[in-house]
Order: sequence, then structure tokens, then C-alpha cells
Amino acid sequence: KPSPAAAPDRLPFSRITQEDLAFFRKILPGRAVTDPDLLESSNVDWLKTVKGSSELLLRPQTTEEVSQILKYCNSRNLAVNPQGGNTGLVGGSVPVYDEIILSTGLMNNILTFDSISGILTCQAGCVLETLSLHLEERDYIMPLDLGAKGSCHIGGNVATNAGGLRLLRYGSLHGTVLGLEVVLADGRVLDCLATLRKDNTGYDLKQLFIGSEGTLGVITAVSILCPKKPKSVNVVFLGCETFEQLLKTFQLSRGMLGEILSAFEFLDSECMRLLNTHLKLHNPISDCPFYVVIETSGSDSTHDGEKLHNFLEEAMTSLLVTDGTVATEDSKIRALWSMRERVTEALTHDGFTYKYDISLPVERIYQLVTDMREHLGDRAKSVVGYGHVGDGNLHLNVTSAAKDPALLAAIEPFVYEWTAGCNGSISAEHGLGLKKRNYIYYSKPSSAVSLMGNIKAMLDPKGILNPYKTLPDDLK
Ligand code: FAD
Ligand code: MLT
Ligand code: ZN
Repeated sequence: KPSPAAAPDRLPFSRITQEDLAFFRKILPGRAVTDPDLLESSNVDWLKTVKGSSELLLRPQTTEEVSQILKYCNSRNLAVNPQGGNTGLVGGSVPVYDEIILSTGLMNNILTFDSISGILTCQAGCVLETLSLHLEERDYIMPLDLGAKGSCHIGGNVATNAGGLRLLRYGSLHGTVLGLEVVLADGRVLDCLATLRKDNTGYDLKQLFIGSEGTLGVITAVSILCPKKPKSVNVVFLGCETFEQLLKTFQLSRGMLGEILSAFEFLDSECMRLLNTHLKLHNPISDCPFYVVIETSGSDSTHDGEKLHNFLEEAMTSLLVTDGTVATEDSKIRALWSMRERVTEALTHDGFTYKYDISLPVERIYQLVTDMREHLGDRAKSVVGYGHVGDGNLHLNVTSAAKDPALLAAIEPFVYEWTAGCNGSISAEHGLGLKKRNYIYYSKPSSAVSLMGNIKAMLDPKGILNPYKTLPDDLK
């Protein structure tokens, strides 16, 4: 029996003809790529677990070009795979068969930045880190930050509704994105690129595209509300003996750090082992079962330092924390953050990685890791837990020496049933893509999934946009 994550049969889309190629070459001179060597990396996802066989990569520069592409593809019934930085982790960013890859790589212009309101508008293909640097020069920061910042595009972030390391403080993209420009499947341009904090004129259509994973339209421009750059940033790396103590440390940090708390992240000792073994990163403190990265961001270094000092003293004297180190200067801050941000990379060196991105009531998150370890016994190479404690978001990852269908069958549906049993979400922030689409019913009722199908049919009646992704096969 094939796994529910396996791709369904190819749907009856047209195949690219010489006439199609001639059309694309005419509207995108030099930017309709057919060279197999150049196509290679765009056909494979970041994890190297999904591989398509697209023979055409289109690289538009403008919204008008995206509109022309989609209008043509819709009329010819050609399937299209929107692609940003190709860092997605659920197989959504690469074709399954021969879908045309529509890359936002050349749509990388910053359009405006208002230094009074902090509102940035830019094309969808701007790299997150480039935007961050641009803003930092102007005393602002992006409201989101993630380990993939050097490659991911803001359009991809919006399309996946990426969470990341700052969500605890600045909230989700559903709140910070103020406007979007989207090209619909038939080429119509939906201009909802507002730059207003408040706008209750009718339905908030842009919300539909946030997290829609390229299945409802191609995002071509984004306007986003950015916070002021904090004047003082501190990062602490702490060790805890038990997960219960870690949770108490979280509670304590919320109480004592209050408004300056900007991240509360964790990794377990198995993650630390992989960081040591595969990336030669050394534990900055003594060995502990659990590690925490806490960041504070505020406007007054004396005030922030005092708060942090009091918090650390309380955490140490009440024995919630067994060891720790503090960073205030940039290079040490970066080094401590990399202990958390580079876990994803360390896992890829450990073997074939089965990734789970689960939302749970925060007090339950580590129980799933413990239960999974017990359930799998020695069938897995490593079972690790890390994630965004502040958001109740666990990353549970299981590795094996090579792809192992028997191991997969032992993990799934166990992990999804466990999650549904706690009313959790089987995808907290990565989306469903190809790999998780058929598991949507563990987190959403049939009535909601069916309504999603209606919305898809209304916006993309021929189903050309990112087929085989996000929605379950039984809808199509
Ligand atoms: P892609 O991977 O190219 O695409 C992702 C999806 O969005 C696909 O379905 C694609 O079709 C669609 N898409 C892309 N661009 C557009 C567009 N312009 N219009 C419509 N659809 C589009 N995610 C988190 O949420 N939090 C994290 O902390 C986090 N950390 C990560 C760390 C690493 C090291 C890596 C490799 C990934 C991480 N991710 C994280 C996962 C990933 O979701 C994000 O990296 C990012 O949001 C994806 O952006 P992208 O430009 O690479 O999109
Ligand atoms: C993270 O928080 O590190 C990312 O979501 C990536 C991952 O889950 O590995
Ligand atoms: Zn994450």
C-alpha cells in the first residue's frame, strides 16, 4: 500500500510543446530556462527527498510577466509550480512531475520603506536576510527570522505562513502582512497591496493567500509592518535537568522578562550530540538533557540587563537551571543562536530525516518525543526534539541511515494520532505541501477541508497552481 505522502498519478495537464516554448522565450527573453543542468537544483527540494522532472524554469521580473505566464498556462492547461528560495520542508516547492517552475528569483526589488510607520513594500523574491540588512541600516528589523533567512524569499515566507524564531514577540504573518499583490491562476492581478494598519472594507482577501502554499495564486509583492530595531539585545543559553523545569523557566521568563522577551527556544541533548558530531559545534555550557535559548530585545540596556540578571538569579537559585552563559556582543549572540538554528542542518548529515512540525499544548510537547523514542526502540538512528517553546511548537525529527519505509510506517500515523489526541496541529508552521496533504483531516474537520476545496475551485478552476499539494487527494 503506498504511503499517503506518495504522489498521486499525474493529472491530465498538457505537455509543453515547441509553440509553448516559443511563447515563453518571447515574453521572457533569456529567462525561460530549459538547460537540464540549470534545472537540476530547482527540481529537488532542500531536504533532497522530493524530485520533480520539470523541463522548464521561468524567471519573470515583473508582475505583468507573471500575469502573462499564468494567463497562457491557464488557457493551455499547463501546470505551474511557484517557487521562492526552495527551502520549504514539506515537498511543496518542487514539481512532482513536469509542472513548469515559476521562480520569483528575479523579482527582488525593494519598492518602498516608510521610516515613520515602519512599513516595507517589496517584490516577492526578496531574500529575507537582504530585507533584514536593508531595514537594519534604517533602524528597523523584519518581524520574522528563521534559519533559512539567507535563501528563503519573503513571498515564500508568506506562502508558507512561516513562523520562525520571533513569532513569540511579533506575532504571525497574518498580523504583520498588511497587503499583498497576487496573480490569480487565470492571470488576473489582485492588487491588495495596502500599506494601512487598519482597513475593514469588506473581506480581508489577502489572508487567504497567507499559508496557501502556491495553490491559490502567485504572490508578487508584499507589504509588511516592521518593528523598530531594538537598542539592546541579549541572548542566554541555559541548561535544564528536566522538561518540567524548562517549562517552569519559560513561565518565569514570561513573568520576569515581560515585554522584553523576544524568543524562547529549546533543543534536547540529542540535538546537541548531532551539532557536535556533524557540525563540530561545541556545547557552550556543561552537558544537560535540555537547552534553552532566550533572547531579550528592548530599548534600554541597563533596564534590560537588570531584568535579565534578576531572572537568571531566580532561575539559578530555584534550581530550574543548572548552567548558563550570557551574550551581549554580536559575535557571541550569533554563536549561541547557531546552536539552535543549525539543528536542521546537523540532522541532514545524520541520515534520511523524517520531519514533524507539531503544535501542542505547551506542557505536552516533549511527551511526544519520549513516547516516539519508546515506540520506535532501536528502529530509528536518532529521535530528536527542538522547537519554539513559546509558541507550543515542537519539531520532532527521526533519522535513519537511509530511506526506510518500514520506519515511516512505524512513525505515521502514530505521530498524527498522538497529536490529534491532544487537539494539536499536524503542521504548526511548515505547511502540508506534498508530504502532509492527506493528513489534513487529523487537524481539520471535513466541512473545513471541503470549503477549502470550494475556494480552490473558485480561484483556480483548472487546478493548474501547485497541483498535488496542500489539499488531500480525495478532493480532486
Ligand atoms: P519555497 O520553499 O520556494 O516554497 C514554499 C512553498 O511556497 C511552496 O509551496 C511554493 O509553491 C510556495 N511559494 C513560494 N513562493 C511563492 C510565491 N511567491 N507565491 C505563491 N506561492 C509561493 N519555516 C518556519 O516556518 N519556521 C522556521 O523557523 C523555519 N526554519 C527553517 C530553517 C531551515 C534551515 C530551512 C531549510 C527551512 C526552514 N523553514 C522554516 C521552512 C520554510 O517554510 C521556510 O524556509 C520559508 O518560509 C520558505 O520560503 P521559500 O522562499 O524558500 O519558499
Ligand atoms: C526550525 O525551527 O529550526 C525550523 O522550523 C526548521 C526545522 O524544523 O528543522
Ligand atoms: Zn521551526
